[in-house]
Amino acid sequence: MKLWISDLKNYVGQTIELKGWAYHHRSSGKIKFLVLRDGTGYCQCVFAKGACDDESFNGFEQITQESTVSVSGAVRAEPRSPGGYEVTAQSFKILSRAEPYPITPKEHGPDFLMSHRHLWIRSKMQHAILRVRAEIITAIRDFFNGRGFTLADSPIFTPSSCEGTTTLFQTNYFDEKARSSQSGQLYAEATCAALGKVYCFGPTFRAEKSKTRRHLIEFWMVEPEVAFNDLNDNMELAEQFVEYIVQRTITNRAEELKALERDTSILAKVRAPFPRVHYDEAAAMIKNENPQFEIGNDFGAPDEAIVSGKFEKPVFVHHFPTAVKAFYMKQDEKNPERCLSCDLLAPEGYGEIIGGGQREDSLELLLKRIDEHHLNRADFEWFLDLRRYGSFTHSGFGLGIERTVAWICGIQHVRETIPFPRLYGRNYP
Ligand code: 4AD
Ligand code: MG
Repeated sequence: MKLWISDLKNYVGQTIELKGWAYHHRSSGKIKFLVLRDGTGYCQCVFAKGACDDESFNGFEQITQESTVSVSGAVRAEPRSPGGYEVTAQSFKILSRAEPYPITPKEHGPDFLMSHRHLWIRSKMQHAILRVRAEIITAIRDFFNGRGFTLADSPIFTPSSCEGTTTLFQTNYFDEKARSSQSGQLYAEATCAALGKVYCFGPTFRAEKSKTRRHLIEFWMVEPEVAFNDLNDNMELAEQFVEYIVQRTITNRAEELKALERDTSILAKVRAPFPRVHYDEAAAMIKNENPQFEIGNDFGAPDEAIVSGKFEKPVFVHHFPTAVKAFYMKQDEKNPERCLSCDLLAPEGYGEIIGGGQREDSLELLLKRIDEHHLNRADFEWFLDLRRYGSFTHSGFGLGIERTVAWICGIQHVRETIPFPRLYGRNYP
């Protein structure tokens, strides 16, 4: 019977068949070891002279790394073995003998690994990261679905920009031009007026000519939008959401996080409520350690690290200067220089994982902001209708999946958090 490695626990004592790739193999005279991986786990198969047929025993030397093989044998519990089970092999077959594998145990540079991303994802660490990513995405969907939100996805091709015109990709749309979405937010504002509590979840695009460890050209973002939520409600939703994702992932993906050597005791402290710091207070903290910083400016990564470094939990910075934020942010009525925005900064130097806030609901102010940002009013007529036909207080935010995966996994670069990253200067494989 052909089994997946993850199901071995139910078949102790039985004779079964595994199919997979040769991850590692070694011989020591009368006994030979093959670690097989099939995507669901790793299993050591032991070939002992006599216990295994002669043809298989002698054919073992033909195995090369990443050859596909089929092994038949008896399942045994073995606590010292990776995964906790071993197969005492009776026979095996090479299904496809692999050519010399380009990824070897020696050090490879990031460029080489990125060019071999289609193979690199087979390695233990990458496998663990992708499993954590999948868990985070499932947790996100369960969180919103379990709280009465309706999934309402936004289009990828759009006529306008959401987050400013400097990072737009433009493409032909028959006889017109289209831009690829930087954020699904504007459409989520419309679906929110139809469905109350919504979220959209999809790939978003930013033509950012920057090579940093936290920027991708194509990244995934989940964006809830809630009618009648103000800035405070928005931060409350965001902190419950982040707590849920983190706690569930450290429980359900403990094995993978262990393989990544992640210290999960730090993540265990990620419990709501999270500290909240007004922009002016955060700016003063930064100025104190980085005299170059100009109050009124947006934060760079080192500035965020100064603020987030003061807290063990993620921290909200709210009321950013209106001038550095997108056109749709609602101005603070008491101080129009500040807006009802909030960013969530992850600890341990990871920085911004969430950007959001309360939306401008006044038609007049929104028109003014569209003009100030040199945006084309005609492209936003439909969006302005949301203020014409029953305008409403509403708020939402966007959480970047890759930055969240990097933080939870404790890895340095977002390029390892998505199966096939699109980076500035790289669109292969
Ligand atoms: O702060 P941003 O630009 O906010 C928005 O797009 C809002 N429209 C969201 C909303 O309110 N519905 O992006 C939100 C998050 C960031 O905090 C970050 O996690 C991620 O998206 N992000 C990126 N991740 C990887 N690479 C990039 N180039 C990213 N740009 C933003
Ligand atoms: Mg932002």
